[in-house]
Amino acid sequence: MILVTGATGTVGRLVTAGLAAAGRPVRAFTRDAARAGLGPGVEVAEGDLDRPESVRAALDGVDALFALTAGPDAPRHEALLAAELRRRPVRRVVKLSSVAADRPAAGSYGLAHATAERDFARTGAEWTALRAAGFMSNVLQWRGSVLAERAVHQTYGGVPRAVVDPADVAAAAVVCLTTAGHGGRVYRLTGPQALTAPQQAERLSALLGHPLRYVEAPRRAAFEAMTGGGLPPAFADGLLDALADPDPARGGTPLPTVQDLTGRPPGTFDAWLARHRAAFTAR
Ligand SMILES: NC(=O)c1ccc[n+]([C@@H]2O[C@H](COP(=O)([O-])OP(=O)(O)OC[C@H]3O[C@@H](n4cnc5c(N)ncnc54)[C@H](OP(=O)(O)O)[C@@H]3O)[C@@H](O)[C@H]2O)c1
Repeated sequence: MILVTGATGTVGRLVTAGLAAAGRPVRAFTRDAARAGLGPGVEVAEGDLDRPESVRAALDGVDALFALTAGPDAPRHEALLAAELRRRPVRRVVKLSSVAADRPAAGSYGLAHATAERDFARTGAEWTALRAAGFMSNVLQWRGSVLAERAVHQTYGGVPRAVVDPADVAAAAVVCLTTAGHGGRVYRLTGPQALTAPQQAERLSALLGHPLRYVEAPRRAAFEAMTGGGLPPAFADGLLDALADPDPARGGTPLPTVQDLTGRPPGTFDAWLARHRAAFTAR
């Protein structure tokens, strides 16, 4: 049995579906089973990474774990998962991490991922870290301003990023969870092209068939939007520090890893946009 945490989110949902499609027994961890909507072939385990007893129950009979946590509580949640893994014979763990974890870790966000990777490495399980570059799906954050004012607001938009399709991250995860030879490996996953935010906005504009105004938003504005939306200030700062990182070695240079792992070329940004066009047109 393979347990997937974060199973209802962007990447976890695709990992869960990929494992089910491959005929692997898969258990999805979610706080709300009634809303999970994960389809046939998926066992659902309702629980919360804040409730250790629910994590222990979900890990019963599990031999591999896809560890995906998100948000400011991720360090505590991953520490709990790693501690539980040390107590049981889970054979394999694949952790969704970030290129921000590359040394020296980019801010508190990168450091949190690096610390969790180290904790999983010490569990005794065969472990793999998937350090993903920025997700193509992050541009869904532009939806509101695209619909309301035909504008795109981005902070640190001038840094080129080899953004990756979450579907490729999920496909790489399925390979690492289901085949041997990935123990102790750290894979950096990128898309095929490095694009700045204005270049991404141009491509979206071409797809929609109307101009989009690009606005480089100051860090302060992004910080206030994040904390106004409920994020703790230290976490918002950590995310912005990672975003500000200009090092092309950290997600700014296309790598062959997705192709090497999955056997097919990584999806392009244009292809991702075409699949998600409706998000930028439907009200
Ligand atoms: N966005 C990027 O550019 C990027 C790049 C590299 C790496 N990453 C990493 O990717 C991860 C986020 O992946 P994602 O975007 O796929 O996640 P996501 O869409 O934000 O989904 C988060 C998931 O976490 C679950 N969750 C939240 N709190 C929980 C709790 N207390 N107990 C149990 N489950 C909980 C939610 O499930 P329920 O609501 O069903 O419980 C949901 O499925 C993070 O580690 C992030 O650092 C992101």
